[in-house]
Amino acid sequence: MRSLIDIHDFSVEEIDSLIAVAGDIIKNPEKYADKCKRKKLATLFFEPSTRTRLSFEAAMLELGGSVIGFSEASSSSAAKGESIADTAKVISAYADIIAMRHPLEGAPYVAARNASIPVINAGDGGHNHPTQTLTDLLTIAQEKGRLNSLTVGFCGDLKYGRTVHSLIAALARYTGIKIVLIAPEELKLPSYIKKDIIKKNGMEYSISEDLEAALPELDVLYMTRIQRERFDDPEVYERLKDSYVLTEEKLKEAKSDLAILHPLPRVNEISVKVDNDPRACYFRQVAYGKYIRMALILRLLEEADGTPLREDRSSLIVNEIKCKNRRCITTTEQELDQLFRVTDAEKGVCRCIYCESKANR
Ligand code: CP
Repeated sequence: MRSLIDIHDFSVEEIDSLIAVAGDIIKNPEKYADKCKRKKLATLFFEPSTRTRLSFEAAMLELGGSVIGFSEASSSSAAKGESIADTAKVISAYADIIAMRHPLEGAPYVAARNASIPVINAGDGGHNHPTQTLTDLLTIAQEKGRLNSLTVGFCGDLKYGRTVHSLIAALARYTGIKIVLIAPEELKLPSYIKKDIIKKNGMEYSISEDLEAALPELDVLYMTRIQRERFDDPEVYERLKDSYVLTEEKLKEAKSDLAILHPLPRVNEISVKVDNDPRACYFRQVAYGKYIRMALILRLLEEADGTPLREDRSSLIVNEIKCKNRRCITTTEQELDQLFRVTDAEKGVCRCIYCESKANR
């Protein structure tokens, strides 16, 4: 059965179709008001959220459905040690579709393997956040009128920023995209994304530590927060937290039709004064998030058939290697098979299928 765990679970054509449906919902919301009557969405949020959880809930309510769930792990039986697999089986008895956020990478994947209803990854640690990516794509499509032939700058935390990783992977499948990676050395994009996505897809890219110098060539600027919660060493966070601040002054050199996106929440990386600039799209982006999630819920419910997600294990390495990423779901979930795949781009290197961390055989 179809779930959305990684943006690659949907083809470009399917993403374009979701964007088209979301566009139609924006224009004709009344057409969709009863589409999910008697359907229930379960929002299982083991990590804080404002936009993702509430936009999912608003999306289901606007489709005529209803919502159950929890917004922190401490109010669920996870606090008593219940596994993700058991949680997914239990929720399948109560709801028709799950949206799950979890601090451990790969948790929604484990849920999808055990649920008999579709599972949507609403963010797993520093790994993936595919519905933010769909939101970002809809925002770019609506604000720029196209998803091809764009120069897109990513600025801030490119190391832990799951929204950045997912959006680069999505943009790699469109044509004429150039990306500019703007980050301090300590927060640069992981090398596997550069190898497996950017280089493999022949994407044009450049690297800079200077936001002002990069700004004039950009059609889209994707700002991100330096995420305190992802740092092991608080001193490193303190040193890096003010690396980039977008101001009215800096924007004087930018294109007049630049689109400024930010997945939010913002801390101080965009001055509040920039909010009044018509190029600031980030609060409109929040609204697009609800519409694309409406389109996604409709699509996954249409395809739901009661069977859990199953991976093809014929090309996987099963229980030979152990994942060393302490943020991987394999560190806590009981009796979970260790599964690795060998990547094409890195000969001999294996990657955990839950969190994509590297290991040698
Ligand atoms: N953009 C985003 O994921 O926001 P929340 O953490 O508030 O859901």
